[in-house]
Amino acid sequence: MISTHQFLAGAYHPPLGGSLPAEFLAATNVSDAGHPSTKNLRILLALSFIPFVVKINPSGKERFLMSTVTNLTVPKSFPPFNLARLLRTVFQPNAAERVAIFIDLDDPHQVKDFGFLKNPSLTIQKHAYEVFYQGLRNGGLKELNLTGGDFFAYKITGGSNLDLPDLAVTPEGREVSLEKDVYPNYKLILCISTYSATAPLTAFAKQYGFRGATLHGLNETILSSGLSVDYDEVSRNAEKLRLGMTNADWVEIDFSCNGEKHTLRLDLAKQEAQKSHGLCRGGPDIANLPAGEIYYVPTGASGAFPLKYEDGTIGLMTVQNGRIIAAELIHGNEQTIEEHRSKIAGDPATGELGELGFGTQLLPVSGRDIQDEKILGTLHVATGRSDHLGGHLTPDKFADSKNATHDDILFAPHKTPEIQVPQVRIHRNGTTEVLIENFRPAPYMAKLLS
Ligand SMILES: [Fe+2]
Repeated sequence: MISTHQFLAGAYHPPLGGSLPAEFLAATNVSDAGHPSTKNLRILLALSFIPFVVKINPSGKERFLMSTVTNLTVPKSFPPFNLARLLRTVFQPNAAERVAIFIDLDDPHQVKDFGFLKNPSLTIQKHAYEVFYQGLRNGGLKELNLTGGDFFAYKITGGSNLDLPDLAVTPEGREVSLEKDVYPNYKLILCISTYSATAPLTAFAKQYGFRGATLHGLNETILSSGLSVDYDEVSRNAEKLRLGMTNADWVEIDFSCNGEKHTLRLDLAKQEAQKSHGLCRGGPDIANLPAGEIYYVPTGASGAFPLKYEDGTIGLMTVQNGRIIAAELIHGNEQTIEEHRSKIAGDPATGELGELGFGTQLLPVSGRDIQDEKILGTLHVATGRSDHLGGHLTPDKFADSKNATHDDILFAPHKTPEIQVPQVRIHRNGTTEVLIENFRPAPYMAKLLS
């Protein structure tokens, strides 16, 4: 059988050092004040590949020709990470709310006396301890007027969004029940883990009335970029994109791989587009951090797309009625394809396309999908569980609950250099618009950000 994390979000590719390709240029906010020739015009966020923008003034009589306003690459630096600022922006916490930090470990008892810190490979868990636990204990709780700051470890699930075990262990070595002792007694839960826990934690948040955030795969790059941005601004930009992408009939993605062209069509049935925007200020919910994504749960899908597996093998997936029904080898290991075929045959829900997502942020590549899928110009589909996104596919609909993962399949230049995406089109309000070309937002998408 294919492993449950065959195309895992947050797979541990080493950070690639660079960021987006040099030609990846994007938009910026520019004040009108510095551009007298465009006074009284709202300056558009402009992309380098938009040569000029023609605007008609409100009277309709005069035309202004603006050259490209500004090219903005991914910022070279971000504000320093500030835990209190991040939590304040994301949650706007209420006074005295009690906060807990979760990590995952092969043996959760290794949390006793923070013994896991001796293992240098546990970098995610170390960040959870040093940045979040110590950050809260050493002033963060006081600054935010929060209580708790308690630390719990659970046994690693082994797959993206698999259900969480109930047993957790405290640094004192005490075993506790998450459902009896933790979920009912905390108002904010920060889960900093190896595998995504967004789906199960969202279900528990709604059941027990807490809020939280999942930060699986946390690394240095993410801390110093995707977690250092202003989430009020991320949220505003996500909403601008969402408004121009909502109520769509379908999205078509053209792929080119190994000299062949393929198209995947995802039916959206005019659904309200959703956004992962990082703010979790209302009722029980879980934010995925870094955030910055527009997403849908497709109502159907058809066509074909190339999929790159963890071992580098590339297969061609045939999609019918919303599910992958066949996999053929394009390049690599036939055994990998055979294992995938047998998984789909034994548990067809694992082939269901449960998400289509588009990044909205200007961020550097982190080597972890949790951030890299939020980069503007990238796109991802996901197979499997979709209940945390409002979809129908719950774990009980899988033949084996161990297969109830949600596996993001990210298409991005750094991750899938063998797979080109010449064009992504969206059809809404009777019009087809080009959304993305070669991993760069096309003018329609760029203008949404104005
Ligand atoms: Fe997504």
